[in-house]
Amino acid sequence: MADQSFVTLATNDSYVKGALVLGSSLRNHRTSKRLTILITPHVSDPMRKVLEKIFDEVKLVNVLDSGDAAHLALLKRPELGVTLTKLHCWELTQYSKCVFMDADTMVLSNVDELFEREELSAAPDPGWPDCFNSGVFVYRPSIETFNQLLQLATEKGSFDGGDQGLLNTFFSNWATTDISKHLPFIYNLSSISIYSYLPAFKVFGTDAKVVHFLGRMKPWNYSYDSKTKSVKDTQDPTMAHPEFLNMWWNTFVTNVLPLLQQHGAIKDTATGVKALSGLVYSLAFSCGFCREEEVTEAVSHMSISSPAQSNPPPSPPPMSSEERKERWEQGQADYMGLDSFDNIKKKLDTYLQ
Ligand code: UDP
Ligand code: GLC
Ligand code: MN
Repeated sequence: MADQSFVTLATNDSYVKGALVLGSSLRNHRTSKRLTILITPHVSDPMRKVLEKIFDEVKLVNVLDSGDAAHLALLKRPELGVTLTKLHCWELTQYSKCVFMDADTMVLSNVDELFEREELSAAPDPGWPDCFNSGVFVYRPSIETFNQLLQLATEKGSFDGGDQGLLNTFFSNWATTDISKHLPFIYNLSSISIYSYLPAFKVFGTDAKVVHFLGRMKPWNYSYDSKTKSVKDTQDPTMAHPEFLNMWWNTFVTNVLPLLQQHGAIKDTATGVKALSGLVYSLAFSCGFCREEEVTEAVSHMSISSPAQSNPPPSPPPMSSEERKERWEQGQADYMGLDSFDNIKKKLDTYLQ
């Protein structure tokens, strides 16, 4: 239907990878709805081209950031201030109804029936079930609602520094008023619940329709072995059940990687690794002899081809390899210094010798 759309958001190339898998999963399960993505100026040109192949509408919006370090510190997720950018989804008034889905979600079956629900329908948050999780919700675009949300954000702020706190304050009767607005948990099954309530997961997990990779570790942060079709083992407790991660990666390799290759987001062995941090897989794949630590190290040295290259940010102070990797994954590579392409090339040459 042309007046209904799934909507997601990506403010950088890392989250674009998630959005591309989400979009592919919706297409694979034959959605009849439109697919829309909100992006911000940091998303690179090659990635925008690839997004246009999967999404019907790629809409550029400005970043809305709470800058609320104190509340975000409680969540231990300082990067989530930008999630207020999600509020722009209420501006999509060309649609009468939408389903917003985080870029770190993936559908396991057709979920078009969600459009039968009303604003604001969402599933409980696994951490505080009287709040809804804002990774999947049904809403009605409206400039009036958008303005009211912005006003609330400016006057009162958000109790978690991100969109979820704000939306729960705004739609505060969600928990008590209308049970039809409680989406079943299978529409937003967070990987955390797999180990926080394993017996329930064993009984009900097979009915899951949407999986949400909630938390700091995202699927694109793991490395994937294409031979065994599985993510490499880590200390992560969710790894007891890596099925969903493996499905995410399988969709990435089957549906997304070929598009990235076609559009020059990755080219071949040496230039390919230059494009994106999540392509650890690509590096591991194209030089199978690289050990995992070497790959990780190489990732932290990679450069990124982004439009921001003409306007580089100031170099960050010295930092550990782990911190550098994190910054890299957030699209903040030090491409004029440590992460310059020359440095990456030198590093790769040492592996290839
Ligand atoms: N997001 C983004 N850029 C960021 C952080 C978040 O585009 O740097 C968007 C993306 O759609 C993401 C959503 O905001 O899925 C919410 O963030 P995240 O999924 O990381 O939060 P979590 O679900 O883990 O609490
Ligand atoms: C949550 C949600 C996410 C939201 C974030 C910040 O845990 O999963 O969608 O953006 O918190 O409020
Ligand atoms: Mn999420």
